Amino acid sequence: MPTAPVIAHEVAAPLLASLSRERRRSFALRLDRWWDDLAQPLTHIYGDCADELALRLVRLAATAYASRPESLHELDERRLLQPDWLQQPGMFGYSAYADQFAGTLRGVADKIDYLREFGVTYLHLMPLLTPRDGDNDGGYAVRDYRSVRSDLGSMDDLEELATSLRDNGISLVVDLVLNHVAREHDWAAAARAGDPAYRDYFYIYPDRELPDAFEACLPEVFPDFAPGNFTWDEDLDGWVWTTFNEWQWDVNWSNPEVFAEYADIVLLLANHGVEVIRLDAIAFLWKRLGTNCQNQAEVHAITQALRTLCRIACPAVTFKAEAIVGPHDLVQYLGTGRHTGKVSDLAYHNSLMVQVWSMLACGEVRLAAEALGNLPRAASTGTWICYVRCHDDIGWAIDDGDAGRAGLSGYAHRWFLSDWYSGVFPMSPAQGLVFQENRATGDRRISGTTAALCGLDRAVDIADHIAADVALRRILLSYSIVAGWGGIPVVWSGDELAAPNDRHWADNPLHADDNRWVHRPALDWERARFRHDTATPIGHVFSALARLARTRARLPQLHAGTPTEVLEVRDPGVLATVRRHPYGAMVMLANVTASPRPWPSWRIRELGVGDPVDAITGDRPPEDGNGDFWVPPQTAYWLVDSSWLA
Ligand code: GLC
Repeated sequence: MPTAPVIAHEVAAPLLASLSRERRRSFALRLDRWWDDLAQPLTHIYGDCADELALRLVRLAATAYASRPESLHELDERRLLQPDWLQQPGMFGYSAYADQFAGTLRGVADKIDYLREFGVTYLHLMPLLTPRDGDNDGGYAVRDYRSVRSDLGSMDDLEELATSLRDNGISLVVDLVLNHVAREHDWAAAARAGDPAYRDYFYIYPDRELPDAFEACLPEVFPDFAPGNFTWDEDLDGWVWTTFNEWQWDVNWSNPEVFAEYADIVLLLANHGVEVIRLDAIAFLWKRLGTNCQNQAEVHAITQALRTLCRIACPAVTFKAEAIVGPHDLVQYLGTGRHTGKVSDLAYHNSLMVQVWSMLACGEVRLAAEALGNLPRAASTGTWICYVRCHDDIGWAIDDGDAGRAGLSGYAHRWFLSDWYSGVFPMSPAQGLVFQENRATGDRRISGTTAALCGLDRAVDIADHIAADVALRRILLSYSIVAGWGGIPVVWSGDELAAPNDRHWADNPLHADDNRWVHRPALDWERARFRHDTATPIGHVFSALARLARTRARLPQLHAGTPTEVLEVRDPGVLATVRRHPYGAMVMLANVTASPRPWPSWRIRELGVGDPVDAITGDRPPEDGNGDFWVPPQTAYWLVDSSWLA
């Protein structure tokens, strides 16, 4: 059993003096248990400065532990008793801007009944700490991490909301933007005023020599409205690193002071009751000349050290990595090698999201089976966030190798998807918008709500009932696939009501050039009144998604610790997966075509589902005289043995 050095216990002792003996002992045990996991990554990143930083972090952890509210200490114990709480099949997520959803944090608390009715156990509220004035990238340009956006409420409101949610079985997830701060943040202001200590918080260069050397390998995130990765700043008299917008300054994580600052902020959020911290744009944290400055090994070391700090002070708290990167880099965010089980427990399954849209557009699963089947296996402690839409655009993260093996050209397929979802392709019913066209690479990302991309907006516009029916099937199919994958399905706010694109998204001059706002409308509560009327598209979608949540909760097969295996492609129109849980298997058959498709029943039985029943509807799939099950068009079956539904 690794133990912490005496000095680490000594620096903590005075800070814990007012606590009970049991509480002090608990801290000491955790410090001993986790010391190595803290010290090793710090040494990797900070070399000679690591020891001093480690002791400083122990002091921060002890201070936070001593002031942690009693109810959160209890939560810590509960989570330690059920370390796989996030992997439970009953987890069901919802993500929204607090203001767009309910005005204020108190307003969100007033909507808890709605969230419960829908089946939510995990609520991700988009950035809510104080951003810069003016355009702030939807809150991702933070001016002050220690206060809540004043129009949303206060830190006390945040704590109250977290408590009310928890009392209702919902965990609060909050963003921590840790790759950059707003140009108006105190650190940046001090740097602009010439304070050398704060200039070291950023990457500042006197001339173009290094920026140009870095640029040679750097992609552009916002080529349209923020080309390049560096911005000249008069106050600084230098070029500052700005991966995103020119007013979002990348912070310098190679400076231990920066680490200590964020460690303190993590503990602050933890003690306000935040249960999951979303590590925004985590891939970009470490810069290395000659690389694309994403996914560097130090990123995982930083995450491990921050996570370990939580394990000591507030073990209920976990991390979600927002790394929208290629499949091989992606699994590392759930921990591989020596970081297994020690970094983030959650990460966005970007690849699944992209493949769902690809399958819907072309009615073909070959590429999806190739890409998803080849995805390196994630740590069994990790859980995917499985989503159809989120607040961001969709970038066609399709690997050329996967495409080649599926007999496609990656470039041409990405081109087709952009054409299809922007409605340019003949017969496409989609009404997405092109976001950040990059003429150099040919990339065209897509904005739009799920309903608009599935063709519902258009069908409603032209009052075409048949087209509306197809669009609804597409919506439900996409959600059935992600909810049947085995991570935490997260519904983007509005999708539960089949919300259309916001036609007025550009009216707000602050984001008139950022069409991601087309899929970020205020939730229409008038619309929500129709959610029980299943004859309307709204009620149809709401009840079907809520049913997915309820169905998941009954199926141990969907515990996230069990991997999803992609089965052989018997029919290019049907994606088949199996989850071999020790309690019993679940086979998913997703027919992405417009016609009914057969699948051999013997194969399902051979996979361990003796008497197959579709868990979503409770019905037995129709079987013909040839021993084939017929999967209806644009429909997914979750087949389990009937005994599970008894
Ligand atoms: C993340 C957010 C995105 C934001 C970016 C910069 O990718 O999801 O909305 O623009 O980070 O913070």
